[in-house]
Amino acid sequence: MCGIVGYIGKRNALPIVIDGLRALEYRGYDSAGVALWDGAKIRFEKAAGRVSALESRLSRKSTLWNGKSAIAHTRWATHGKPSDRNAHPHADCQGGIFVVHNGIIENYAELREALIREGHSFLSETDTEVLAHLFERPFLSSGKIFLEDAVLEGLRHVDGTFGIAVISKHDPEKIVVARRGSPIILGVGDEEYLVASDASAIVGVTKNVVYLHDNEAAVLAPSQMQIFNLSKKAIQKSVDKIDWDISQAQKGGFDHFMQKEIFEGPSALENVFLGRLIDPPTGGGSAKLGGIVAVRDRLLRAKKIIISACGTSYYAGLVGKHYFEEFAKIPASVEYASEFRYSNPVIDSDTAAIFISQSGETADTLEALREAKKRGALALGIVNVVGSTIARESDAGVYNHAGPEIGVASTKAFVSQLGALALLALFLGRERGAVSDVLGQKLVRELKAMPAKMKRVLSGDAEIKKLAEKYLKYKNFLYLGRKYQFPVALEGALKLKEISYRHAEGYASGEMKHGPIALIDENFPTVALAPKDPVYEKILSNIQEIKARNGRVLAVATEGDAKIGKLADDVIFIPQTLEMLTPLLSVIPLQLFAYHTAVLLGLDVDKPRNLAKSVTVE
Ligand code: M6R
Repeated sequence: MCGIVGYIGKRNALPIVIDGLRALEYRGYDSAGVALWDGAKIRFEKAAGRVSALESRLSRKSTLWNGKSAIAHTRWATHGKPSDRNAHPHADCQGGIFVVHNGIIENYAELREALIREGHSFLSETDTEVLAHLFERPFLSSGKIFLEDAVLEGLRHVDGTFGIAVISKHDPEKIVVARRGSPIILGVGDEEYLVASDASAIVGVTKNVVYLHDNEAAVLAPSQMQIFNLSKKAIQKSVDKIDWDISQAQKGGFDHFMQKEIFEGPSALENVFLGRLIDPPTGGGSAKLGGIVAVRDRLLRAKKIIISACGTSYYAGLVGKHYFEEFAKIPASVEYASEFRYSNPVIDSDTAAIFISQSGETADTLEALREAKKRGALALGIVNVVGSTIARESDAGVYNHAGPEIGVASTKAFVSQLGALALLALFLGRERGAVSDVLGQKLVRELKAMPAKMKRVLSGDAEIKKLAEKYLKYKNFLYLGRKYQFPVALEGALKLKEISYRHAEGYASGEMKHGPIALIDENFPTVALAPKDPVYEKILSNIQEIKARNGRVLAVATEGDAKIGKLADDVIFIPQTLEMLTPLLSVIPLQLFAYHTAVLLGLDVDKPRNLAKSVTVE
């Protein structure tokens, strides 16, 4: 939520931070702002709306905006409505200190009252503004003080989460950065440094990065960078290399990131399998997972698995539960991370807790992970973003290597999460003796065949677009699936509602007759997931029941299924595969259906209203 970016070095900072904002816009897009030190004074500009609104304001004055350091922000409102006034950066009373912030200052109301009593005046309704006034305090009392000392002193009073970048005319040749709970990455260029909420804002300038951890701060100056903890004790950190390219974070000829990322599903799956599938000519197939070698024995001793995540990652977890129970014969359960952490979970050192997150920064998932570790569980992460907080705080894990996912609606990450879960289940199943040589080989063979099968489904895009046109008039949808298809139904409904704002309910098909069937009439269509699997006949009965009540049915079924065409109004066919792998195929038409619906409705699919890509607040 919210993106921050800053640059200090030898180049003009403005175009660099504006590019950075564009890259970060998926994190929040209700207002944006920038502050720049031009060598004599700090200039700032803010605008409600997209980054483009800020740019058009700046374009009128850009000749004056020349400076070697700047900070900028794109906002997802928490405290105070989206407006020019509430946009970041926020300043102190004298306009001498400017702050951009991602996170929530939980005790801001008390701090604000105390600061007002001291004589500070506030311009915005945000929690962030208290930071600027807290950082102003030491300058008021002692005059000559380093900006980093003022920032560290101010942060001592703060409860909550922050990723901040600060500049000041009192100590101008630097950017001060600090983090607790909100992601911060530093870029190390040639006599230039950057700070950002994530690598997408940095990778255009440099691939060399340093991950700032919680309770760490940094001073970035044109020719040096110092890192320390919040008590100013120096810390040495290694410089890592980003392993992806700027082109991966661009649309590459597609109209939208979401569209591009749906079409990247097969390569995302190839990447998660790369070097990890063992397919010996003799003996059983298995999976090789370098990220869990260090905890292998502990993992094999686990008596149960608990999976925790949010949103799409949670639905991937629901598929994973079946994988672990069916193939590794180990009891598994799935919990929303936001519920798990407050549920007093019964877990101990015999539990393997798996946390799934594309961003690796989701606040609820991170706190659930911390809770599980506190209770002694082995914490494993299935994470896409390398170096993210969840990846770092997990005891071990599997990166899904899907590459950057920019569209707010998660698509290729889901597919690669299923790939990672399948690998982990296969590994556990083999090691625990639950998967035979023959089954192991069969699974590996079919996993390898999946990217090509996914491409076949994607080749039906034009047909799916026609179906989206046909169903465009409907405002409500029911998505039904059983067993492996139930999570897909939930995911399909989530995709539709988050980008097209159509009401959609995902339901376990067996539950339909316990309530939702009352909704069905000719205006309430059902998307029925009906691949040829062991529960196929059951979903056929559900379709009959819907047809008997004049409901329309759009089915997803297996190629060669002659029966379903006689029942459903429309059918999208997917190739035959093993039951466990059907979600990898059946989810694609649902992603495309949601995508085309939103485009046809003229909506911004990559930046749907009220949402942000990475939910770093509770
Ligand atoms: O980054 P994460 O996987 O932890 O994010 C979890 C959810 O916020 C995310 O999946 C969200 O539901 C997406 N908008 C779904 O498309």
